[in-house]
Amino acid sequence: MKKHTVAIMGLGVRGKTHLKGILENPDRYEVIGLCDIREDVMKTVCETFQLNVPCFTDVEQMLRETRPEVFVFVTYPNLRLSMIELAVKYGIKAVSFEKPMAEDMAEAKKMTDLCVANGIKAVVCHQQKYLSQMQALKKKAESGQLGEIKKIFAECQPWMAQLGTHYMDYIIWANGGCRAKSVIGHVHGPATLRDDHPSPDFIFGEILFENGTRGYLECGYFAEQHNPDMYRDTDNRLTVWGTEGYAYAETDGFWGECSPATAGRLVTGKEPGWYHFQEKVIQTPYYTEYADWLDGDSRPHSCNIETAFHGYEILEAMCLSALDNKRVDLPLADYSYEPVMERMKRELPEFPGCDKEPRDLYKGDWDRPERD
Ligand SMILES: NC(=O)c1ccc[n+]([C@@H]2O[C@H](COP(=O)([O-])OP(=O)(O)OC[C@H]3O[C@@H](n4cnc5c(N)ncnc54)[C@H](O)[C@@H]3O)[C@@H](O)[C@H]2O)c1
Repeated sequence: MKKHTVAIMGLGVRGKTHLKGILENPDRYEVIGLCDIREDVMKTVCETFQLNVPCFTDVEQMLRETRPEVFVFVTYPNLRLSMIELAVKYGIKAVSFEKPMAEDMAEAKKMTDLCVANGIKAVVCHQQKYLSQMQALKKKAESGQLGEIKKIFAECQPWMAQLGTHYMDYIIWANGGCRAKSVIGHVHGPATLRDDHPSPDFIFGEILFENGTRGYLECGYFAEQHNPDMYRDTDNRLTVWGTEGYAYAETDGFWGECSPATAGRLVTGKEPGWYHFQEKVIQTPYYTEYADWLDGDSRPHSCNIETAFHGYEILEAMCLSALDNKRVDLPLADYSYEPVMERMKRELPEFPGCDKEPRDLYKGDWDRPERD
């Protein structure tokens, strides 16, 4: 089987996880270049993973000299569009990068258009779909054991740009990839707009999909805490409601089902949570599925950029609905308006103490050890 050559930029926390997922598919990929502005980081990575490949501090030099088939960049959202533009410049046909996919809507649209127009197979890392409890939830929704799917709920403790983009993608996934028609939304709280993942402190929205299913998403401090003795970052729940019952799955491993298959009683359980699974179980199949797509599998990767863009567009529509006090129909026709985060900075009412660091403001239990 042909191996895909890969060059990776950004070897921080997530970059190492991507690298590991690629190396755990040794028949499918060959790493031919690494890049980070920090040479010490690259040195440690090469030692840890026993890699003897060219290392660069300049990403364009890496692409020019290595000419990879796959360009993986794992940096902050300020380095997304410019990386896609580099991929186009060097004729690269596959890019893999992190969420949130962009800094604003106009940028997300440009990135998606560039990838589509240039035949670039792009994936945005909404990878929690590979958690076993998430896969089981999807099977339950598809098998019919919950009846006809009517409503899908996502509840996330972290704010929108952290987990909202993930769980919006999972709502679309659980609903079979169907597109949204109309969206309404509410936002409040300016404190987390200052975070390196800017977001309102809380967002809630409702989505009407083309197949009639309703989606509901809430993110931030006001969302229900399901497991107060767990990390807040992983206290995120996706619930699928059908005409016969419901089932849910969480990032931290918990799951539940109440349906005819459980004799109408709520049955609950726990899989190993995110911190145990993120490398071993998630990133490896993520990159296996990507190699299948690159090899010509007709099914696009479940984290493909066009689906990610639709999720981004729905979240944007929730923000616009909240700011303009009206329903927003999709697709959006125009992206030339003032970015919603800039508007929120001006328009969202402040409250006493909102100048504190968001994690101090909504403190309590971000640092709790995970129960298992
Ligand atoms: N999918 C997930 O589950 C998940 C989880 C956590 C974080 N993330 C996302 O991953 C992204 C990266 O987060 P992280 O925690 O890995 O960040 P990080 O700060 O640990 O790593 C970023 C790396 O990029 C390097 N870098 C920055 N600018 C560079 C440049 N111009 N050229 C080369 N290297 C450069 C830095 O030196 C650093 O090593 C964020 O967007 C974050 O939202 C995703």
